[in-house]
Amino acid sequence: MDKTFYITTPIYYPSAKPHMGHAYSSIVADFFARFKSIDGYEVHFLTGTDEHGLKIQKSAEKAGKDPQIFCDQISQTFRDLSNTLNLSNTDFIRTTEPRHKKTVQHLWKELEKNDDIYLSNYSGWYSVSDEAFYNEDEIEEVDGNKVSITSKSSVEWIEEESYFFRLSKWEKPLLEYYDANPDFISPESRKNEVISFVKNGLKDLSISRKSFSWGIPVPNNKNHVIYVWLDALTNYLSALNYPNKEDDFFKKFWPASVHLIGKDILRFHAVYWPAFLLAAKIDLPKRVYGHGWILSGEEKMSKSKGNILDPLEIIEQYGLDPLRYYLIKEVSFGKDGNISQERLEDCINSDLANNYGNLCQRVTAFAIKNCDGKIPSEIKFKDEDLIILNKYKDNLDKIRSQIDKQNINFYIDYIVNSLFEANKYFNDQEPWKKKNDIIRLNTIVYTTLEIVRKISFLLYPIIPETSIKALKIFDIDEKDIKINTISKNDYLTKDINIKKIDILFKKIEKKND
Ligand code: MSP
Repeated sequence: MDKTFYITTPIYYPSAKPHMGHAYSSIVADFFARFKSIDGYEVHFLTGTDEHGLKIQKSAEKAGKDPQIFCDQISQTFRDLSNTLNLSNTDFIRTTEPRHKKTVQHLWKELEKNDDIYLSNYSGWYSVSDEAFYNEDEIEEVDGNKVSITSKSSVEWIEEESYFFRLSKWEKPLLEYYDANPDFISPESRKNEVISFVKNGLKDLSISRKSFSWGIPVPNNKNHVIYVWLDALTNYLSALNYPNKEDDFFKKFWPASVHLIGKDILRFHAVYWPAFLLAAKIDLPKRVYGHGWILSGEEKMSKSKGNILDPLEIIEQYGLDPLRYYLIKEVSFGKDGNISQERLEDCINSDLANNYGNLCQRVTAFAIKNCDGKIPSEIKFKDEDLIILNKYKDNLDKIRSQIDKQNINFYIDYIVNSLFEANKYFNDQEPWKKKNDIIRLNTIVYTTLEIVRKISFLLYPIIPETSIKALKIFDIDEKDIKINTISKNDYLTKDINIKKIDILFKKIEKKND
């Protein structure tokens, strides 16, 4: 069987410039994409921008710009961010592209053909900020304004002619699907939220708007534009050339392995999206994973709250890999996580500069001085060397299976422990006291170098640029990073010159140090 992996990020609204929450979703998706690619999978990694709907139309009006020009500009800042974050995405989709419009209109026609769409009138609450319809019991009044209880964004009453999707018809099939596919929604706590929402009863969903024009027209009725969520969710298919279901590209990557999203948009991905797909007789994605929020001072980071940490400013100040490492380590995956510059600095100093960077420098400096500057060839492993080396082989399948459960916390803990053990091994073995026993000295150096190599492979999905830099010690190129080789204890080419590398992470001088 072909090893393929298709991962997606949410497509971002280009209503304002990107913030740390967006960066987080993308970095985490990149982590999985890179792990799978060094594990021999052919990876398709999609990200992009969600450009239609009233929210964008209003933002463009506010900026005094034509919506297309407005989207062109802000979408570019998201594309630039993908580069700045060193994402390995294989595509970047914009919902204003012709390839996407074609797919959305086709999907609409399929739903229509299967009698899942009808024309009626909508009246109810709508949040432009969330682009979501809310039931009466989902809103509350705050300071005289009606707002959504969950997102706190204000809602307005709308009444207009609208096409509806027969969502109610899919209530039972959805519940059956969740039951038969217990891993479809992750993590578990979020699954329960979704199931109880569906069990409460699904009403048919309004899927077109008539009072504005910034969207994809409904086929055969130009007075309506397609609801922006039906439009946006379909990006996952348009990027694979759907409706060409027989296309190799589509067959290779659909169903998606995982849609990675924030918990705020779980309902759209775990209820509406699978219902649309069931109705159109398209296979469902294998998993929807709803991660938590990045909080700043205990609150969700958002433009309206003015508590945004700008990813570009942080990268400018500390570099990209520290930010990637920090977000992956500090935010317990699946849960909300508070971030702060203070903690970021601690993380750089302890994990990256001390435990990893310093280990690389120490062992290479020692080898350059005591092993003729070469990777030692005359070695003889003892039990204490093999115990630490073999752990990687013994844990490889576990690492893989935890990754398949999106258990990033396991992965990062594994690395942190490995670094601790590696430093302890080097200190305890005291190679500097073994100058009379050159084979022992060589073996300790070789073992430590092997561990540095294995940990650098494991770190590649998190801090790719630094991992590549560290692997220059051994003349290993990016294309040679393969996770299955962490099982080998004799991977390093013996007798080749060890390359000296620049310091990997500079320690941050803290004011209270
Ligand atoms: N356009 C929709 C998604 C359509 S997907 C078919 C959307 N866009 S968004 O720009 O508002 O947010 C997209 C995603 O950014 C969120 O789902 C979440 O993944 C991420 N985040 C935005 N703010 C966030 C935090 N403060 N913390 C973590 N991630 C959050 O929703």
